[in-house]
Amino acid sequence: MRPDRQGTIVIPLFRGLPLSAVGEEFPELAKLLQRKKELPENGNALFCHSLPSQRQFLLVAAGRGSRPADARALAVRIMLQLREKRISKAVLVINAAAPVSRGFLLNLIDYLHLNNYRFDRYLRKKSRPVQRLDLLCRNNKLLTAAELGEKEMIDRSVVFCRDLVNEIPAKITPDTMVHTAGALAAEHQLALAVFRKPELAELGLNGLLAVGAAACCSPALIRLDYIPEKYSRHVSLVGKGITFDSGGLNIKTGNNMEEMKCDMAGAAVVLAVMKAVALLRLPLKVTAWAAVAENMPGGRAYKPGDIITYANKKTVEIVNTDAEGRLILADALIMASRQKPDAIIELSTLTGAIVTALGDGIAGLMCRNKKLKTELLQAGDSCGELLWELPLFSEYRKDIASKVADLKNADYHGASSIKAGLFLNEFTGHIPFAHLDIAGTAFLSKPGFWLAAEGATGFGVRLLIEYLKNLT
Ligand code: BES
Ligand code: MN
Ligand code: ZN
Repeated sequence: MRPDRQGTIVIPLFRGLPLSAVGEEFPELAKLLQRKKELPENGNALFCHSLPSQRQFLLVAAGRGSRPADARALAVRIMLQLREKRISKAVLVINAAAPVSRGFLLNLIDYLHLNNYRFDRYLRKKSRPVQRLDLLCRNNKLLTAAELGEKEMIDRSVVFCRDLVNEIPAKITPDTMVHTAGALAAEHQLALAVFRKPELAELGLNGLLAVGAAACCSPALIRLDYIPEKYSRHVSLVGKGITFDSGGLNIKTGNNMEEMKCDMAGAAVVLAVMKAVALLRLPLKVTAWAAVAENMPGGRAYKPGDIITYANKKTVEIVNTDAEGRLILADALIMASRQKPDAIIELSTLTGAIVTALGDGIAGLMCRNKKLKTELLQAGDSCGELLWELPLFSEYRKDIASKVADLKNADYHGASSIKAGLFLNEFTGHIPFAHLDIAGTAFLSKPGFWLAAEGATGFGVRLLIEYLKNLT
């Protein structure tokens, strides 16, 4: 089958869409559409070719066309088919009678883009993305040029995040993260502050210093500020930036250590959100804090048994050097809460347990502030980046108490995602605070149900932009 010059015509078959309407639009399909049994169902797709008109069609079962989840699933299906068949040009035709909402269309565009991305920098044989996919929407749910422009900016920010997370660990170190943040600040007129060893020592940011002690590249705390002329609200974002997590002296065993290049995904997300916020010129003050360090074993490594004293005077006993994320985040959270923002949202690939609990399609949300929690859950629902709440159950707080310090950094009696969340809560004062554990969603070992590609997903970027936009 060779697609014609126009490209393959992709037709989503929505539940509730009269097939006669599609038949009227494409008479060459009318007969096939009458033989309902042969049509794709439940996520299937069907290629067919019309000889007289030389047109190639792709019929895709599309669900109801109302929920973000439908848009996500439809995009996965379409892009899998197009990429598998190496089709570079297509037109997606939404019938006039299709029951789709504007929100559905906006999500569909996002997810088509997301599914067209591949990290092929190191492949000699490059992946072949779809070059052109026109959307022909016949039901008057016209999207404005402004909306489409916004989509483009957000998509660029997501790609920025994914490229950063997918890049090899040899190239992503605290130094290159600082460099990247500098380039971003220059490009988008963001204010930049970088705290390296001397400043970290001066400020007592001892979590970063301990975790980064054995690496050849010293740790850093990066702050980026976006300050519009007029604003009434200030939101701070905090990201975990472990550029490689070997586990340290409690070195990781078994397979998949290569995936630990993704342990800076939280930091990549907050940088990408700053890019988007600047491009979109949102009327909010937004501060991003990226805590970056490499967790390595070595002669200078921090050790189990060590006790870290934090800038807020709290002390933490190290019982496992592989529970390093909370240690560097504590520094960043202390610094973030000193500015007294209206809210702090922190993202981290923090615990393996969140992958066990929620898999690679839902991130864990831990938050004691009702309003912030609701706003984040809503943002997630509407953009398809799903969150599920885990309780910050205060009875578990005693499990992270230490006999020799105020806290310890790990405990092996279950609920490890929640206990990590409880740990972080000790460093945020009274500021409304949300912790998002993205260990499952940030990086896919295999294509997932919500994204048909391995590697970095950019999960969190669209979610936070949606949240921030809803505040304005
Ligand atoms: N970066 C890991 C968590 C992780 C696991 C991220 C899988 C992405 C995929 C984190 O630093 C870690 O090692 N956590 C430990 C904590 C434990 C030692 C208390 C874990 O979850 O096993
Ligand atoms: Mn670790
Ligand atoms: Zn880690």
